[in-house]
Amino acid sequence: MRPIFVTFAAAMANDSNRKIIIKTPEQIAGIRESGKLAASTLAYLKPLVQPGITTAYLDKKCKEFIFDHQALPATLHYHSFPSSCCTSINDVVCHGIPDNKTVLRDGDILNIDVTTIYNGYFGDTCTMFKVGEVSAYASNLMKVAKCCLDEGLKQCYNGNRLSNIGKAIEKHARANGCSVVFEFCGHGVGLSFHEEPEVCHNSETHRDYTLKPGMVFTVEPMINAGKARTKIDKWDNWTARTIDGKLSAQYEHTLCITESGGPEILTLEMEDLVEF
Ligand code: MF3
Ligand code: CO
Ligand code: CO
Repeated sequence: MRPIFVTFAAAMANDSNRKIIIKTPEQIAGIRESGKLAASTLAYLKPLVQPGITTAYLDKKCKEFIFDHQALPATLHYHSFPSSCCTSINDVVCHGIPDNKTVLRDGDILNIDVTTIYNGYFGDTCTMFKVGEVSAYASNLMKVAKCCLDEGLKQCYNGNRLSNIGKAIEKHARANGCSVVFEFCGHGVGLSFHEEPEVCHNSETHRDYTLKPGMVFTVEPMINAGKARTKIDKWDNWTARTIDGKLSAQYEHTLCITESGGPEILTLEMEDLVEF
């Protein structure tokens, strides 16, 4: 997730040096391979998600798996982020840092977000895991978040406006009594971690574009059970939590806009992990 730092006016003033890279077929093939590896990393971690294990253990296994596949975890040392994945539990919206004091407990919902660099290409995906048995309330939030991602993806076609993604996501979230995080958004990805454009998940898009074939970006809505606002833990300057302590859930795909029809999902293997 890319935090929004710029105001609308500042973004407009910067227009000329903010460019969306249209990827070549060769680059798309490279991002597809990396995206597949990122999703396989999540699949590898899934059986390890059990009550009693620490998030540091998940991070260790994540790092091993990615290195064993001749790739690098993009989050490691990214703006000093210390880990190979983000582990965000319950009220943590995103950017949770794995550590050896955080033990998974029965009933937790956990997001693991993995970004790989493979042959120089970036693939970014995340999904939700249940730790043991979770409440119907938590499970429903996960379902709403996944449907929000799917609603956003339906808007990812040649000629459509970028802002329709966030509008569709917000509509689905609101219809289900949930709110959409606006302080972090999706992003162009592929040749580097966070590229243009910023992909807002609500209806207040900062900058709009017409979608074109070869655009590669993420859609990764963070959906809250309560209020939309987040706060960052001051002791690590990373962990983003819901302001009211209520649950948050998130799913993420990397996709490519095609000539006609829907998007090509470059992290499709993540779908196999979805369960509510
Ligand atoms: N993978 C996250 C995203 O979806 C970004 C994590 S940045 C980190 O964009 F520094 F926190 F790792
Ligand atoms: Co992302
Ligand atoms: Co991600």
